[in-house]
Amino acid sequence: MRRTPDHPNLLVHAHPLIEHKLGILRDVATPPPTFRRVLGEIAGLMTYESLRDLPTRTREVMTPIKACSTVELAAPVTIVPILRAGLGMTDGILRLVPEARVGHIGVQRNEETHQPVEYYEKLPSDVADGPVLVVDPMLATGGSATYAVHYLKRRGCGSIGFLCLVAAPEGVQRMAEDHPDVEVHAAALDERLDENAYIVPGLGDAGDRVFGTL
Ligand code: PRP
Ligand code: URA
Repeated sequence: MRRTPDHPNLLVHAHPLIEHKLGILRDVATPPPTFRRVLGEIAGLMTYESLRDLPTRTREVMTPIKACSTVELAAPVTIVPILRAGLGMTDGILRLVPEARVGHIGVQRNEETHQPVEYYEKLPSDVADGPVLVVDPMLATGGSATYAVHYLKRRGCGSIGFLCLVAAPEGVQRMAEDHPDVEVHAAALDERLDENAYIVPGLGDAGDRVFGTL
């Protein structure tokens, strides 16, 4: 895990396995079936650290030997993938946290204005009762991520984290300005955005690569 002085809200998950898998995802020759599998694997690896501060409480159990004090999660966890590409991370995360609920927020970036346009939402009614992890492989301008976090805050959520693979400095900065309370977890901080607001070097259009709609 690495912090950079320029972005105190960002935690980069620097680990050889994560970097190796990110290299596979960046490779333009990686086909959708491999892209989907590796995206799920990397999301699972990153979940472990992203959820390090989950609230816990003690639970007394009886082992086959004697009574023992153990730990359990104290509040319902909700994973919120931003459609579409966030869906590619969800199964990998659920493998680690099978008790999590999954809420969905459908936001599509208008490719001319780069502004987020919402088209779908379905969250657990008690989403505000526990921590929420918003997931999307790409944090580019930050429009989609900040929109989703605003939405969750309006629903009363107080404990929100954001997990992505590739972050652009512009998106990390936008998150710091709009949501300084939200920690951003990324596998890599890339160089910049290009003239079409794509991340450079990035990995292209994540949704298209997950679902084969190139
Ligand atoms: C991509 C990506 C993010 C968003 C990032 O989705 O998955 O949601 O763009 O860009 P931003 O930080 O500038 O908002 P897109 O809107 O292309 O939709 P899709 O997943 O349906 O392809
Ligand atoms: N959305 C993507 O899928 N990729 C980018 O580089 C930017 C936005």
